[in-house]
Amino acid sequence: MRRTLPAVCVVAAVTAAAVVLTTGGWGSSPNEMPTSSFFDGSDPPLNITDEHFLDGLLTANFSYMSCRSRYEFAVYHHKHSSHKPSPYLIAKLRKQEALQKRCGPGTAAHKKAVRRLDSGEGVVDNEDGCRYLVYISYRGLGNRMLAIASAFLYAVLTERVLLVDGGKDADALFCEPFPGTTWLLPRPGGWFSNSPLRRLQGYEGGSKESLGNMLQSGVITVSTDGNVSWSTPRPPPYLYLHLSGAYGFHDKLFFCGAHQRLLGEVPWLFMWTDNYIVPGLFLTPAFSGELEAMFPEKEAVFYHLGRYLFHPTNRVWHAIKSYYHANLAGVGQRVGVQIRVFQKKQPPRSVLDQLLSCLRDEKLLPETTDAAGGNSTSSRAVLVTSLSSWYYDRIRDEYGGRIAGGVHQPSHEGRQRWRDAAHDMRALSEMYLLSMCDVLVTSGYSTFGYVAQGLAGLRPWVMPRAPMWAADWREGLDPGDPPCRRAVSVEPCFHAPSAYDCAAARDVDLDKVSPYISRCVDVKYGIKLVNESNGQW
Ligand SMILES: *[C@@H]1O[C@H](CO)[C@@H](O)[C@H](O)[C@H]1NC(C)=O
Ligand SMILES: *[C@@H]1O[C@H](CO)[C@@H](O)[C@H](O)[C@H]1NC(C)=O
Ligand SMILES: *[C@@H]1O[C@H](CO)[C@@H](O)[C@H](O)[C@H]1NC(C)=O
Ligand SMILES: *[C@@H]1O[C@H](CO)[C@@H](O)[C@H](O)[C@H]1NC(C)=O
Ligand SMILES: *[C@@H]1O[C@H](CO)[C@@H](O)[C@H](O)[C@H]1NC(C)=O
Repeated sequence: MRRTLPAVCVVAAVTAAAVVLTTGGWGSSPNEMPTSSFFDGSDPPLNITDEHFLDGLLTANFSYMSCRSRYEFAVYHHKHSSHKPSPYLIAKLRKQEALQKRCGPGTAAHKKAVRRLDSGEGVVDNEDGCRYLVYISYRGLGNRMLAIASAFLYAVLTERVLLVDGGKDADALFCEPFPGTTWLLPRPGGWFSNSPLRRLQGYEGGSKESLGNMLQSGVITVSTDGNVSWSTPRPPPYLYLHLSGAYGFHDKLFFCGAHQRLLGEVPWLFMWTDNYIVPGLFLTPAFSGELEAMFPEKEAVFYHLGRYLFHPTNRVWHAIKSYYHANLAGVGQRVGVQIRVFQKKQPPRSVLDQLLSCLRDEKLLPETTDAAGGNSTSSRAVLVTSLSSWYYDRIRDEYGGRIAGGVHQPSHEGRQRWRDAAHDMRALSEMYLLSMCDVLVTSGYSTFGYVAQGLAGLRPWVMPRAPMWAADWREGLDPGDPPCRRAVSVEPCFHAPSAYDCAAARDVDLDKVSPYISRCVDVKYGIKLVNESNGQW
């Protein structure tokens, strides 16, 4: 497929960035991320090919100007785009897009479904069959992206429309992923309306609308042969799924096949999670066959879903490209370093030492001056992302004079602020800049790093983290441990899986239940998807 569309040109982008940096309008140093943006509208034409659509992953139904990152992502990530989506996955995505359009906000079907929800009728419309999954926004951007990708996959598997209660800034961060409709949950209308959609932030573990509570209070009954059914004449109009870190036994039964059959009868599901629950869906019998067909390469689930769903808006994408061309383009290898410290008492020096040892032991950066005289194929640059500039200063002291491409840090925020649009735009830019690197070193447990590695398709070197709640930051860290370990796959880690085997009615060792589920190197009880390991599991 070839089409001529106006597009960005690398030369133009370099010039634009240079102008910005010399006029100094955007930040206190050339390393600061621009916070505003402009468009000159004079981009030369670019031939749009299959590569720009990520081998069919992306629909061609969007215009180029509405969201440039959708078409330009491939240009910046082509080195790692060896994993092709399966034809079955592509077919499922096109089907989901049609569903989102047919049942989404603004349609008669959606209006009817909202009316039924508000009046407490637990029925799925016979004619249109539209059912909905509402993702409730919660926690920082990395967690939200992993959770939205998980919710989306669940929506595809259960043929529900995904609506995202994305908080205030979702539309400033991401383009719409589905053509001809919106994935953002419309604000429920009517000031006096008592719609359950107005209370999305009010549910919690133990809420009477939750799966766990319905199981415990007898609204849902489980027979001795394991059949699960409603004790009420009809399913409820909506049900709340509590799938966050400290969820209880009954909420975890979400991952059982019999419970899934029942959930299918509920017109509206509200999902609260900050986790990448996808490995749990692979372990749910109702879904495993379908997922295996969609993802022959188990290691590439977030790689495809992330590339399919998340497209930075023009404003954010412009900042990403400007920074990239001003600081990272033209070098042979970009080494991305992501530092996130969870244990407040841990001295920065110990984190820095860990990082420098990792870079040295794994030979990720040269110990002597980089290949002399502008040989760009062997030159390197370092991109540092961290909430503090202290690490950047030390790494620059250590390597700045040695590597031709220099050391760069786009921004530092001091502390993570949740739900702050400008902050989230910078965080998103940094995740994408990291994903444009060729080598990644990340902090264990950080969802920010997971998103970057997933989009890039890279297995990072992961630094173990000091436990968050321990009194002494050394507690639980083995001094004999290496400063970093190579992640077993590019997939994000599911931090809080359920170990309960519903059919066997007992807990199992999740490391041993499937050839493509393995423990994470950074989270003891976490699991992640891996390539099927030649029978040695
Ligand atoms: C675009 O494709 C046309 C026809 O295949 C070709 O003549 C032209 O040179 C291409 N332009 C660019 C910028 O690659
Ligand atoms: C995408 O475009 C094709 C061709 O114009 C059309 O048949 C299809 O319905 C569109 N899909 C959506 C979801 O809008
Ligand atoms: C389980 O319960 C449902 C609903 O009550 C019923 O339709 C179904 O036949 C039952 N299945 C078994 C195997 O008992
Ligand atoms: C640049 O460095 C690479 C790797 O060290 C080497 O193979 C190549 O010949 C060098 N090129 C030039 C122009 O020096
Ligand atoms: C997993 O498999 C894919 C394709 O089969 C391959 O490209 C990738 O390198 C493998 N990953 C690991 C960690 O073996």
